[in-house]
Order: sequence, then structure tokens, then C-alpha cells
Amino acid sequence: MQFGVPELEDLPDVSGKSVLVRVDFNVPIHDGVGGVRSIGDDLRIRAALPTLEWLIERGASVTCCTHLGRPKGAPDPKFSVEPVRERLAQLAPDVKLLENLRFNAGETANDEAFVAELIAGHDLYVNDAFGASHREHASIVGPPRFLPSAAGRLLAKEVEVLLGLRDNPARPFVAITGGSKVSDKLGVIEALLDLADQLIIGGGMCFTFLAAMGHSIGNSLFEADQVDTCKQLLADHGDRLHLPTDIVGLSPEGKLFDPAAGGEVRHFGRSLPDGWMGVDIGPESAGAFSDIILEAGTILWNGPMGVFEDARFEAGTKVVAEAVAESRGFSVIGGGDSAAAVAQFGLASEVDHVSTGGGASLELIEQGDLPGLAALRESAAAAKAK
Ligand code: 3PG
Ligand code: MG
Repeated sequence: MQFGVPELEDLPDVSGKSVLVRVDFNVPIHDGVGGVRSIGDDLRIRAALPTLEWLIERGASVTCCTHLGRPKGAPDPKFSVEPVRERLAQLAPDVKLLENLRFNAGETANDEAFVAELIAGHDLYVNDAFGASHREHASIVGPPRFLPSAAGRLLAKEVEVLLGLRDNPARPFVAITGGSKVSDKLGVIEALLDLADQLIIGGGMCFTFLAAMGHSIGNSLFEADQVDTCKQLLADHGDRLHLPTDIVGLSPEGKLFDPAAGGEVRHFGRSLPDGWMGVDIGPESAGAFSDIILEAGTILWNGPMGVFEDARFEAGTKVVAEAVAESRGFSVIGGGDSAAAVAQFGLASEVDHVSTGGGASLELIEQGDLPGLAALRESAAAAKAK
């Protein structure tokens, strides 16, 4: 038990019991020839194995359940968990996997009847779906109201690391944010400014900040309705906010992910000509960000510095990833695209913790809690009160 959240050891004896395990096997799926679907990175499946093995070794019968993608509340073969089931069968014998939870509209609606359907025939519930624990969905918050419940190993580890960052980080604490949308991350930026000593901002979101500083940003990503907030953040925390001082731009004829389309790639300062799109931070910024990262006691990275999936624009993200890997500070990657980036550069093993949750890790850092954790805490408190 940590942060009041019950763990596997807190469950009644699992031997001979039927355990429903909510996992987040929402992994990338590729559509191949002839409609054959196959899974991409299986990190989220492998990450649940310690919990599944713990239960099986102790004689439990294990039924997993997950969502996959965002089907519209009805069965849809494009979202079937079948490819996940095949991979799971290779990794862990004797584990059942229910069909996509979101084939039933009751899942996202957190419907009572769907909760009853889910828990029928099960004695115990384990939540190991960290990546989905920010969702108030039936399979996350429902079962703990009815069954003895606990967090699995993965969920417990994520909570330990991410709440640890909030509680007692080694200083200086350097947070790095990027990715495309400022509006999605403003709450996180504000929370990070309370927790971290330095905040680095790159990626698509940096252009709304650069525009707020009065620079011309050409055709780069821009959220006009966020300019005032960015101005306020710069006025209040400008000394701790680090924005790129140089930018890699793609000319108007160029296309992302399509080098054959032509177009020119050029290096600019903070301003871009009309029609050009900012696609990466420049080498001067990457170097300055690395210097800050190398001095860090704690690093939290969420969001790439540029369009790293296009090899022409990977340099900024790569230099930052290398600095994070090289730093002696405790380093945490907050899921999603930055996790894909460290994997692409072969640096995942150099990082202390790669979170399996994107939205969930940000929300946990921002709020200090998640609906899935609260449900487990309440379940344990109710059992104790009996
Ligand atoms: C994720 O991939 O972020 C989680 O599995 C949650 O998925 P969702 O954003 O569709 O709820
Ligand atoms: Mg390191």
C-alpha cells in the first residue's frame, strides 16, 4: 500500500479465485495486406506481465479486459482485440482476454448495468491499466465498488515514480514539454511551473509562445486563443521558461513525411518567413536545452521537439533524447510520442522510467490523483470500515 492505494499483497488469498484484470492493451495496430491486422510496439502488453504472472503463480484464474482504439460503442471488426490476444498468448499462457470494452457503450458511459456484466463470475479485481486510469469508465471505476480490489504492479510502479516526482524531486528539476497542442498542455505547464525549477518548451506548441513574444511564425502550428495565456506565463515565469532561439523551417512547397515533394529546409532564428512552417528546433537551441538537461537532478519529458517521425526533422528531438539519456539525473518519459522517440533512437534503456501512459501521466502529475486510483482507495477504505 502506498498513497493509500491497495496492492496485490493486500488482496485476499487469490488461489482458486477468478480475477478480472483491467489492462491497457491499447497498442498501435497496423493494417496489412488483405485486411490482416498486426500489432506495433507491444510495450503495454509486456508491462502487464509481472501482474499476470504473480496471479497465475498463486493459482488464480485470470481474465483480462482492455479497450482498443475508439470504436463507437458497438462491435466493429476494425477494433477487435484479436491481434492483441495472439500476442498475449505468446507472452502469457492461460490468460483470457475479453473483446474490446468499448464495443459496449456502457464502458465510456460508466453504466451500472455494464459494470454488473463485467464483474459477473469474478471474485477479485485488479487495475493494471495505468494508461486508462484517468478515464472515469465502467471497467476502471466500477468493479472496485463491488469486489475486493488492488492496483497491479505496473500501476503501482507508475504511481510511485510519478507521485514521487511531485513529492520529493532531486533538484534541479527540469521539465521538457513539446508536442503539437498548447491548449491541451496549459494546465500541465502551470502545474509543472509549480513543481519544476526549469521548463523547456519545444515542438509545435513553442510557436504560439514565439508569436506571443512578437515573432513571425509563418505557417507554423498556432493557437490564437492561447496567445494571452502564453504572454502571461512569459511575464510571470520568463526566467524559468526556455524557448528555442533557432528554428528549422520547411518552405511552402514542402510536405511533411514526403521528401519527394521537394521544398527547402532552412535554419532560421526565432522568426520565419511567410508560408514557411517550423518543423524542429535548431542546433543552437538543442545545445542550450542539452546543457540545462545535463545539470538536472530530475528530468520529466513529455512531447517531442519537432516532427521526429520525419527523418529530416528528427535532429532536435534526438539531441534532447541523448541529453536525457546521458544525464545523471533521474529521468522519466511521460509516455506517448516521447516514448516512441526514445525507442526510435535506441535510448529507452538509458532512461530511468518510460511511462506507459500519455494523458494519464500528465493528469497524475497535474492533479496528484486519478479516478482509477481514487476508486481503489475508496474500495480499500470501505473494506476496512466493514
Ligand atoms: C491511451 O492510449 O492514451 C490510453 O489507452 C487511453 O486511451 P483513450 O485516450 O482513447 O481513452
Ligand atoms: Mg540517465
